[in-house]
Amino acid sequence: MYLNIYSVQVALLLWSITILSLRTHCLAEQEEEGFALCVTSRRLVQNLSNHNLSNVPLDLNNDTQYLDISHNPLVKLEAAPFQRIPQLCFLKVSHCGLRLIDPNLFVHIPKLKFLNISHNLLDYIPDLSLPLLKILDLASNQYDCYQLPATFETMANLTILSLGSENALEVDFNDFDSLSDSSLQHLILGGGVQWQRYDPGSLAKLKSLQKITLKVPFCENLDLFQNLLEDVNETQTTDLQLVELLPNLCNITGDPFSNLRTMPLVKNLTIVNTLINSSFMVLFLKNVLLSNVTMIQFVNITYSEDTPDGFLLPSLNHTVVMRSVIFEGVHHYQYRYPVIDINVDIFSKVDYLKFSGTGMNIVPCDIMSTLPSLETLDLSNNLLTDSGFWWSVCSYTSVFPKLRHLSLSKNRFSDLSFISKKTGQMKNLESLDLSFNSIRLDMPCFWPTHITELSLSNNNLGNNVFSFLSKYFQRIDLSKTGITALTQEDLLQFPMLTHLVLSSNSIKVIPTALSPTLLSLHLDQNAISSISQETLAGLPSLRTLKAGDNPFACSCDSYWFLNALNKSLLPDWPLDYTCSTPPSVAGLPMSEYKTSKISCEAWLQAAIAFPVMIVIVVALCSVFYACDGVWYTKMLWVWIRVKRRGKKQASLLSNAMFRYHSFISYSHCDSAWVESKLVPSLEGSGLSLCIHERDFVPGQWVVDNIINCIEASYKTLFVLSNHFVQSEWCNYELFFAQHRALDEQQDSLVFILLEPIPTKSLPKKFLKLRSLLMQQTYLEWPKDERKQQVFWANLRSMLQVADHRVLKDMALSLAESASLITDE
Ligand SMILES: *[C@@H]1O[C@H](CO)[C@@H](O)[C@H](O)[C@H]1NC(C)=O
Ligand SMILES: *[C@@H]1O[C@H](CO)[C@@H](O)[C@H](O)[C@H]1NC(C)=O
Ligand SMILES: *[C@@H]1O[C@H](CO)[C@@H](O)[C@H](O)[C@H]1NC(C)=O
Ligand SMILES: *[C@@H]1O[C@H](CO)[C@@H](O)[C@H](O)[C@H]1NC(C)=O
Ligand SMILES: *[C@@H]1O[C@H](CO)[C@@H](O)[C@H](O)[C@H]1NC(C)=O
Ligand SMILES: *[C@@H]1O[C@H](CO)[C@@H](O)[C@H](O)[C@H]1NC(C)=O
Ligand SMILES: *[C@@H]1O[C@H](CO)[C@@H](O)[C@H](O)[C@H]1NC(C)=O
Ligand SMILES: *[C@@H]1O[C@H](CO)[C@@H](O)[C@H](O)[C@H]1NC(C)=O
Ligand SMILES: *[C@@H]1O[C@H](CO)[C@@H](O)[C@H](O)[C@H]1NC(C)=O
Ligand SMILES: *[C@@H]1O[C@H](CO)[C@@H](O)[C@H](O)[C@H]1NC(C)=O
Ligand SMILES: *[C@@H]1O[C@H](CO)[C@@H](O)[C@H](O)[C@H]1NC(C)=O
Ligand SMILES: *[C@@H]1O[C@H](CO)[C@@H](O)[C@H](O)[C@H]1NC(C)=O
Repeated sequence: MYLNIYSVQVALLLWSITILSLRTHCLAEQEEEGFALCVTSRRLVQNLSNHNLSNVPLDLNNDTQYLDISHNPLVKLEAAPFQRIPQLCFLKVSHCGLRLIDPNLFVHIPKLKFLNISHNLLDYIPDLSLPLLKILDLASNQYDCYQLPATFETMANLTILSLGSENALEVDFNDFDSLSDSSLQHLILGGGVQWQRYDPGSLAKLKSLQKITLKVPFCENLDLFQNLLEDVNETQTTDLQLVELLPNLCNITGDPFSNLRTMPLVKNLTIVNTLINSSFMVLFLKNVLLSNVTMIQFVNITYSEDTPDGFLLPSLNHTVVMRSVIFEGVHHYQYRYPVIDINVDIFSKVDYLKFSGTGMNIVPCDIMSTLPSLETLDLSNNLLTDSGFWWSVCSYTSVFPKLRHLSLSKNRFSDLSFISKKTGQMKNLESLDLSFNSIRLDMPCFWPTHITELSLSNNNLGNNVFSFLSKYFQRIDLSKTGITALTQEDLLQFPMLTHLVLSSNSIKVIPTALSPTLLSLHLDQNAISSISQETLAGLPSLRTLKAGDNPFACSCDSYWFLNALNKSLLPDWPLDYTCSTPPSVAGLPMSEYKTSKISCEAWLQAAIAFPVMIVIVVALCSVFYACDGVWYTKMLWVWIRVKRRGKKQASLLSNAMFRYHSFISYSHCDSAWVESKLVPSLEGSGLSLCIHERDFVPGQWVVDNIINCIEASYKTLFVLSNHFVQSEWCNYELFFAQHRALDEQQDSLVFILLEPIPTKSLPKKFLKLRSLLMQQTYLEWPKDERKQQVFWANLRSMLQVADHRVLKDMALSLAESASLITDE
């Protein structure tokens, strides 16, 4: 079968001279690898890149693991600053104009695993003896040969080495001897200048090599290139990258790639930054198609048509093993449509085709219906639109019959409803990548059931995107789509969902009971402050949770997350987890935040607080009893009541005046105490007392005397002792019986207990006393002198009357209207 794909011309209609933003990912990835290799905490990273430093600072943290001092005017690297950082594992000193390195420097940093001193002015390859070093970049310096120092022998674990200098024009047979026993896997060699000499056999010594990147143009002397390929054939190399192999205006003679046909190991061949003429392309492809190369990759090439009939590849009578064809960045030398005439049989086995960064805006109909084995088509980074990809003039019965993965990332697709319908034509399509487009959500979508994976990342979609998706989806990527909230209902629509990416949105809360089927969830770079046990309980199948770079609250909210969650679930732990609030710990790596179980778990607090409280209560009680707390409490109670009533009565009493503050009633047995203590203490503070020995009118019946005194006094004070009860109280029982009016006025009665008198021991006949002592608070006379102070103070405040004028008339009238002074 021989097929002319002239319609390709149409596809190339807008293949203008595209300006590409090519990812120089290979090396950047290595730098990231260096980060992963070395850094255990972001705190130990020192990034001093671009700080206009002329010296390495001397005060670096002594546990620094990662130091980037690239882009500084350093000139010389001294040893002193490195003596202090023995833990250093990653060092980058590129673009520093470096000419000299202290030979003793590396002795101080034996743990170095990554060293990048590329893009400097070193005119020698430094002596390095770093047994742990894995990645070494010495490219773009000024040394004039590739002779590696003998000390390189110690670097048994070196896996990646980059060498290159504009001044090194020759490769000697012995240049790489010191690495012949190393485990070097990837060699990047060349300074972008043509070599004058290459001693055959030099590279063959690096037996362990698996990947070679050559940054050497071979234009004038393609013989060198032939020799070099023979040496590559002696190593384990499967991956060959040729950078700037053929510059512009190059005279190609012979068949430089013929050696490829007999190199069984090389499987991946990459051509980078090169001008390729159609005549050379035919020559090159004939060899490649006869070799064991399964992947051919063109990165940033300029295609020039120097044959009048365009690109013409005749039919082949052998089987082709080619599986993957990749074009990543194609410029056109001529501003016209290239003519491509190819037997599609050649591509009958190709299952991976990438056509990226080419400015393509229309996909030709023929391509859509041919390429029978194609499983993956990557058309990212072009200028395709909905109608450019699904071109309306095409009529075809089958579209990419075996296609399973389609990437339309970084194009101009917009109508999701249209796309969902059209993908139904690709009967085997499983995954579709529409990231970095301009997707709109206007109309309902009707997805074919065979599509199970969709990426809509980096489109502005919003929260209702979930209702435009298919319930058959198993993997959904919605990173950076402007989602602000996620609900349980959103995900209930996807019973088969296993992978969900929601990175770089503004989600604050993860709902509980999210999805029973989810295996992997990415929620990094959102606004989540904590991850709870309930959330994880709602994700019973989860195996991977990426949640770094969120504003985590380092408080009890994170206690479970920090202490109980199995961290093997988190691929980005601990590097990407940093405390954000409270401000006191902002910036602290979460793995270094410590919170105790006690301060965070309520039941534990209770469990601990309970015994502690019991101990405290017991201690307080002991102190209370030891210091006669009961007595003081009683006194305090009396005092409070006095004050309370005092306030109530103040207005009533403002008009009522008495001759005495108090009438004192006592037994003669207690007269010694009354005369020596009570009277001096009370009268000493200005209170006037009625004492029967002194103030009773002689000859009168004692009860009358008592009544007179009581009526003329604001209060009546009983000094109770056993003797008083036995001998005196009977008079009062009588008195209370006679004066029912005063009966209620119990407030005016004050009892002092000189000795304990249990209520039960009182004679049954003294009903009044019993009930009074039951209801009434009484003052106990303390033996302790300090307590006596309190006793007197309390007693005095009970007897105090605001006004000292004594008016018997008023007192009498008060006595008659005694109900006024009752409690309520
Ligand atoms: C070393 O630094 C240069 C300049 O930044 C960079 O281009 C290169 O990729 C780095 N080398 C490695 C191995 O990462
Ligand atoms: C260090 O800082 C430079 C710019 O100052 C930046 O480009 C680079 O990514 C930073 N490196 C790391 C590891 O953060
Ligand atoms: C860098 O530092 C030098 C002095 O060390 C100063 O003269 C120069 O202006 C600085 N350059 C910048 C961009 O700050
Ligand atoms: C760093 O210095 C501190 C004291 O400043 C010391 O306690 C610590 O052990 C040192 N760490 C290392 C790795 O030398
Ligand atoms: C090389 O690395 C391996 C692990 O990757 C380690 O076991 C071995 O000790 C290293 N060799 C040297 C010389 O450090
Ligand atoms: C590569 O090595 C194989 C043997 O392993 C040999 O047959 C073949 O000729 C070699 N090819 C070249 C180009 O040296
Ligand atoms: C070839 O390159 C592809 C894609 O970069 C990679 O997956 C594959 O492992 C490589 N194969 C070899 C043998 O290097
Ligand atoms: C490609 O073609 C141009 C003009 O057609 C010619 O000048 C140049 O030397 C050719 N280059 C190669 C690498 O074939
Ligand atoms: C290419 O080679 C031919 C003869 O081998 C010579 O005449 C011509 O000048 C060369 N062209 C260039 C650009 O070197
Ligand atoms: C391709 O590889 C196979 C096995 O690896 C080998 O037998 C065969 O000779 C190789 N073909 C070429 C053209 O090197
Ligand atoms: C692409 O290749 C051209 C040379 O062919 C080079 O000048 C340019 O810098 C390259 N672009 C990138 C991004 O590497
Ligand atoms: C394959 O075709 C080439 C010419 O393209 C021819 O020289 C060769 O003999 C053919 N081989 C077979 C096996 O037909």
